[in-house]
Amino acid sequence: MEHTFTDSLFRFIESGPTPFHAVDSMKRTLDRKGYRQLLEGESWELSEGGKYYVIRNGSSLIAFRIPTASLRGFQIMASHSDAPCLKIKENPELRSENAYVKLNVEKYGGMLCASWFDRPLSVAGRVMVRTEDGIAAKLVNVKRDLLMIPSLAIHMNREANEGYRYNAQKDLLPLYGLSSENGQKPEDLMEMIAREAGIKEEILGSDLYVYNRMAGTVWGANREFMSIGKLDDLECAFASMKGFLKAEERERIPVHCVYDNEEVGSATKQGAASTFLADTLIRINEALGGNDGSYRRALASSLMLSADNAHAVHPNYPEKSCPGNRPLINGGIVIKFSGNQKYTSDAVSAGMFRKICEAAAVPTQVFTNRSDMAGGSTLGNISGTQVAVNCVDIGLPQLAMHSSYETAGVEDLGYLIRAAKAFYESSIEETGYGEYRISAVG
Ligand code: CO
Repeated sequence: MEHTFTDSLFRFIESGPTPFHAVDSMKRTLDRKGYRQLLEGESWELSEGGKYYVIRNGSSLIAFRIPTASLRGFQIMASHSDAPCLKIKENPELRSENAYVKLNVEKYGGMLCASWFDRPLSVAGRVMVRTEDGIAAKLVNVKRDLLMIPSLAIHMNREANEGYRYNAQKDLLPLYGLSSENGQKPEDLMEMIAREAGIKEEILGSDLYVYNRMAGTVWGANREFMSIGKLDDLECAFASMKGFLKAEERERIPVHCVYDNEEVGSATKQGAASTFLADTLIRINEALGGNDGSYRRALASSLMLSADNAHAVHPNYPEKSCPGNRPLINGGIVIKFSGNQKYTSDAVSAGMFRKICEAAAVPTQVFTNRSDMAGGSTLGNISGTQVAVNCVDIGLPQLAMHSSYETAGVEDLGYLIRAAKAFYESSIEETGYGEYRISAVG
């Protein structure tokens, strides 16, 4: 089994406990590789051969290069930086028995609650501190086992194994500290975070999240599986970034796009429903001296990959998958289709993507929902309302999606990196009605 990339994927995920950290980690890589950060509030001067990135809200990132000054089209791969978790509320300390201190949290996204119990957790996020003339963002991450959500003993709930309905305000509150007999009390969470992060300034705002501390592992009879939190969707973000950085220059503009807030519907200023991608592409076109017409022509010769992980058939629940399309771990990249068009893949975009994967010798497989089950939704169709281009929904097959510790295949990661590189090096051109020229390089 190929382990070439698992270690660096684990390091990437462990450095990204929140979208702010994942974006910061990508920023540092791009800085190292000579990319220049553009601020949305400044005017952009772009030049042929230039390498750039732009960040919105500290949690969404778009990186691109300008291979040639004549804009012909974009090759866009989009993924997301967020994952379901617990968000810490304002004034989080709740006391019980005059001894325990627990934290008041709420759900972020469609999480599998059971996976948060009885394992070491901690807190990370961003805080805004007071500066002389305003406020400034600082990332915080308490890098030690800090919290736990202990299960209720079976003796106190004999029905625990008969199915359980979790109440977010009661069951999911993590235990943070304990007052001692001699009157010593745990300090408030924010004080503790400020002290551990070496922050002296007053904190005026915070976005803090609970994350699973468990390290990644490669396992199985032949070490064919890997498990870690947030594979959905940092695995795709990682592969997109790797492919983007490895790709050689061709005539299309390669765009590596990572959105925040996919897990809560994307309708934020930095989500897929926002103008972030459209704003960026329009500004690229303007900076290259283009007009409305050149932008629209470029979109007609562009392709987007909406990359978000997919469900493999579960060994214990084979009946939950469609009887005809049954993705397997390490079986290759999954192309997702759905009748309701929540997945954007159609004959045209799937045909384009299959041609690119074929050139890169990457296997593909297909996911469709069971016809009697509503499926999930993702980025592509939402982003398409702002930037309407041919789009195909893809992902890597995984198990336990939205658990705090997910499972995927070691070989599939390599496939997506290879396909991403080939995608960024390829180009699509509409040559006639229903006809496209696809130049794909293996
Ligand atoms: Co996802």
